[in-house]
Amino acid sequence: ETIEKGGYDHFMIKEIFEQPRSIADSMRGRLRADDAHLQLGGLNDYLDKLAQSDRVVIVGCGTSWHAGLVAEYLFEELARINVEVEYASEFRYRNPVIKENDIVIAISQSGETADTLAAIELAKSKGATIFGVCNVVGSSIARATHAGAYTHAGPEIGVASTKAFTAQVTVLTLMAIALAKRKGTISEETYRQLLIELETIPAKVEKVFENAAKIKEIAFIFTYARNFIYLGRGFNFPVALEGALKLKEISYIHAEGYPAAEMKHGPIALIDEDMPVVFLATKDSSYEKIVSNIQEVKARKGRVIAIVTEGDTLIPGMVDFVIEVPDTHEILTPLVSVIPLQLLSYYIAVMRGRNVDQPRNLAKSVTVE
Ligand code: AGP
Repeated sequence: ETIEKGGYDHFMIKEIFEQPRSIADSMRGRLRADDAHLQLGGLNDYLDKLAQSDRVVIVGCGTSWHAGLVAEYLFEELARINVEVEYASEFRYRNPVIKENDIVIAISQSGETADTLAAIELAKSKGATIFGVCNVVGSSIARATHAGAYTHAGPEIGVASTKAFTAQVTVLTLMAIALAKRKGTISEETYRQLLIELETIPAKVEKVFENAAKIKEIAFIFTYARNFIYLGRGFNFPVALEGALKLKEISYIHAEGYPAAEMKHGPIALIDEDMPVVFLATKDSSYEKIVSNIQEVKARKGRVIAIVTEGDTLIPGMVDFVIEVPDTHEILTPLVSVIPLQLLSYYIAVMRGRNVDQPRNLAKSVTVE
């Protein structure tokens, strides 16, 4: 096991640091910005069907569901297609309206999650075409789907999913761009720009690691916090949910993720000087709005940790701590903004003496209903 951890203390931190490679591996052979090449082998025969379809239903659980939420923003923004994201466990026990030209995308790292598998069988019985985004080759979900794309993240051992999430988001981004190109919903210029920018993501993730020591210091300060709130908007909203899930599952600190604008509809009542609030505040189309959300929290003495874009000069003067991430295209933001949240939860859990790789009550793949 020591050898498998490659010199790291835990699988989770090894897997966090593997992300520049696992993201690159998930793009390898599929994307070449030089000659504007983008092709997902498994999608070839289905791209037309997807382009003609009125809606896509995405099913998954936990972190995979969060990747599905990112995909909702991606598919709607780029390919102008209706997307619904469903918890597999709810979807399967409802009587969902599925039509024959609906496409269902099932997302699963392990490919063995019982609820996701059951959701696939239900959608199949109603005539939908099922597309899988799985990490484990030959897994039950990979076999149950009509077609799919593997994520090539490599084995993920830590119960808390890290590199599988960024690999899922990478593959879903490629799918959304390929579909948008086919539908003609993005310009040739945007298409090329996105491919070029995607190729820079592994290096940008690497750059986030330069902040590891700073994130560790912040983790030390908040080791014994009892609650955390994570807030984000747009593409960063699913990242807020993912950050909160990471923290609660390995450190056992209660954490909530919310869309930042929802705060005023309830969670703002929780804010006081003992409440750490993590803001996803990168320079994107909701930046101004996020800045006012930060002001609302600071006015109530909340302690703010902000994930900001490199070179931001406004937010550092307003908050308690900042962690910088490199600038990227707005739709690719989750791939860099989630990294500091993974590190923050990891360091807090280690400082609390938790069993990071195998947290209590959790299994790596949930094969029971
Ligand atoms: C993530 O950190 C969790 N351990 C969990 O939510 C996980 O993402 C979920 O059980 C889904 O697993 P899957 O991707 O293997 O289907």
